[in-house]
Amino acid sequence: MMPLLPGATIGVLGGGQLGRMMALAARRMGYRVVVLDPSARCPTAPVADGVVVGALDDLAAAKHLAAQVDVITLDTEHVPADLLEALEPIAPVRPGAKVLRTIQDRLVQKQFLDALGLPQATWAPADDLEAALAKVGRPAILKVRRAGYDGKGQARVEPGVDPAAALATLRGEPAVAEALVRFAREVSVVLARGMGGEIRIYPIAENVHRRHVLHTTRAPAPMPATQRARAEGIAVTIAEALEHVGVLAVEMFELPDGQLLVNELAPRTRNSGHYTYGACATSQFEQHVRAVCGLPLGDPRALTGAVMVNLIGDLWRAGPPAWAAVLARPEARLHLYGKDAPAPGRKMGHVLLLDDDTDRALATAEQLIAQLEPT
Ligand SMILES: Nc1ncnc2c1ncn2[C@@H]1O[C@H](COP(=O)(O)OP(=O)(O)OP(=O)(O)O)[C@@H](O)[C@H]1O
Ligand SMILES: [Mg+2]
Repeated sequence: MMPLLPGATIGVLGGGQLGRMMALAARRMGYRVVVLDPSARCPTAPVADGVVVGALDDLAAAKHLAAQVDVITLDTEHVPADLLEALEPIAPVRPGAKVLRTIQDRLVQKQFLDALGLPQATWAPADDLEAALAKVGRPAILKVRRAGYDGKGQARVEPGVDPAAALATLRGEPAVAEALVRFAREVSVVLARGMGGEIRIYPIAENVHRRHVLHTTRAPAPMPATQRARAEGIAVTIAEALEHVGVLAVEMFELPDGQLLVNELAPRTRNSGHYTYGACATSQFEQHVRAVCGLPLGDPRALTGAVMVNLIGDLWRAGPPAWAAVLARPEARLHLYGKDAPAPGRKMGHVLLLDDDTDRALATAEQLIAQLEPT
């Protein structure tokens, strides 16, 4: 396969902030970018060479995009695998339909991980709720099989409450039940796998969620080398079994005894890898472009320690936050995604703090968020 060199056109399915940062990286390298998104005003649109407006399951719109590009990739796993398959004769799709089919349905993803012998929280299909809860115990978490993100499509079943009420909040969507994990912390491994099978792994990130939405990422996560090797080994096993091409993120729970459980997979760039854009020699966005274009992969090394803190729509409730406090700090990089509707819980941007002392950077992150809160 000949690599697609700068000048080629990359089609991106989904025009959110991941597509936007990918497009910025691609264009910096001299690629053209065309994006498919339901909104002409999506975050990727202002930085793309072209926009096709259409839903992510609109085959005609996706074919219209495919006809204009040399390779197709995505910024979300919620694109029907059948649609990707239909595009494959028009332009190469990376990652391909097979990877998406495995990842986009939580049940299939969990079966895949089980088949690899990788540790996960105890789980069961929620079709027979009583049987599922008998297996996973309580508290349990019900998760819709498809289209969940930022904790949407999840419901907790506490001991002693009617589980049917929790299930009803999922509006009849097929779901899986999982045991609630009492983890010590959450970590993620972001890696890239190239067309020839080569793999580059970023420093492991430690993630804190608030109300099910990622709040902060610290990288590198303080972690003994043997534990790091185990986490990396799990992620590499998954990337190879999927024959993935592009960036892959593997979320894990670390238990108090050090055991690692795989939580979920993302076949794309991920929020917990945003720190790479500013802290690493090659950002996850450039790396994804390199992988899907068949280029050699770049150096994933961190040039500095870093903390990323998300800017959630709630901060906008009295209008745009006053950025002066962020802008005044030389170690801070402000990223805003150009979203015009700041809804509560919506990811609007992030701040990256470059500091080898990541404990200090975590404290700074909290201080900055407090300063950005409307008074
Ligand atoms: N089994 C569990 N036990 C304990 N906490 C959990 C469990 N499952 C999920 N969580 C918490 O909820 C968060 C979101 O869950 P999960 O990653 O499954 O959902 P998501 O909506 O796909 O999130 P993302 O925004 O990462 O795509 C997790 O990062 C974790 O903090
Ligand atoms: Mg998650």
